Amino acid sequence: MFTSLDETAEKLAAAGYLPSREIATAVFLADRLEKPILVEGPAGVGKTELAHAFARASGRALVRLQCYEGLDESKALYEWEYAKQLLYTQLLKDRIGATVEGAGSLADAAERIAGEGNVFFSERFLVARPVLKALTSEVPALLLVDEIDKADPEFEAFLLEVLSDWAVTVPEIGTIRARQVPRVVLTSNAARDLSDALKRRCLHLHVDFPTRERELAIVRARVPDASEALARAVVAAVAKLRTLDLRKPPSISETLDWIRALAILNADRLDPALLDDTLSLVLKYEADVARARERKGEILAAAQVG
Ligand SMILES: Nc1ncnc2c1ncn2[C@@H]1O[C@H](COP(=O)(O)OP(=O)(O)O)[C@@H](O)[C@H]1O
Ligand SMILES: [Mg+2]
Repeated sequence: MFTSLDETAEKLAAAGYLPSREIATAVFLADRLEKPILVEGPAGVGKTELAHAFARASGRALVRLQCYEGLDESKALYEWEYAKQLLYTQLLKDRIGATVEGAGSLADAAERIAGEGNVFFSERFLVARPVLKALTSEVPALLLVDEIDKADPEFEAFLLEVLSDWAVTVPEIGTIRARQVPRVVLTSNAARDLSDALKRRCLHLHVDFPTRERELAIVRARVPDASEALARAVVAAVAKLRTLDLRKPPSISETLDWIRALAILNADRLDPALLDDTLSLVLKYEADVARARERKGEILAAAQVG
C-alpha cells in the first residue's frame, strides 16, 4: 500500500505517469480504502495509462478486461472448457463404460453418470476470465475494466455484484472468494451514462486535458529527443487548438504524435509550412483541419510565445 500522497505521486511518476495532485489523491485513496476507482474523461487523456502506472507503481499484476457491446459473463468471469471436457470423456470411455455396466434401464445409467458429473464440472475444466483471474491471482493484482461504457448495462449490474462481494458463485462448484482484494480501475469515455449504483461504489475521478505545465512535462518525459523549444511550441499550439470548438479536440495522444513527427522532421519550431503539412496528424476530421487552417495565424502566434 502507498503510505502517503507524496509517495503515490512519486511512484506514479517513476512508473512513467505524471499525475496532477487530484489524480494522485484519487489513486492514493483508492489504494488505502480498497475501493474501485472510476476514471471518466475524453479519449486520449491517459485513463488507460493511469491503470497501467498504478499497477507498476504498486507492484501489482495488471489484469485487463476490455469492454465491448455484448460482453458477457462467460468472457469476463469464467467458461467451461468444453473441448477438454469432451477429450476427457473420450479418454475415460472405459471407466465410464464400467460405471454404467449392469444398469437396468437408461434412467438408471443416466443416474449413475449424473453421480459422477461433478468430475467434469470442477476447477480442472474451468477457464478463468479476467475478473475471476484478478480475484484468484496468487500475486496482488489490479483489474482494469477498460471502457465500461461500451458494455451493456446488464453487464455493469453483474460487475457491481462482484465488486461488492469480492466473490463469484459458480453453481456447479460453489462460491469462489477473492484471495486478496484486487485494486480496480474502471475507465469510461462517457459514451453512455453509468448507473448511480456503480458510481456510488467507486471513487470518481474526472480526467480532462492537462494544464500546459503538466502536458509539457509529459511531452518532455515521453519524447526526450525533441528540444524544449519545440515541445513548448507544440503544447501551446495544441492548447490553442482546444479552444477552437472542434469536433474532436486534440488529446495528449495527438500532442505526442505531433511532436514525435516534428522531431523526426528535425523541426526546432513550428512554421507555417510545417503546420500545413502536419495538421492532419493532430486533427482527425476534415472539417476540423479546415477550421484550424482559417485560424493559422493565431495558432502560430500562440506557438511562438510558447
Ligand atoms: N499523465 C501522463 N503521464 C504520461 N503519459 C501520459 C499521461 N497521460 C497520458 N499519457 C499518454 O497519453 C497517451 C494516451 O493515453 P491513454 O491512456 O491511451 O488515454 P485514454 O485511455 O484516456 O484514451 C498514452 O501514450 C499515454 O502514455
Ligand atoms: Mg483508453
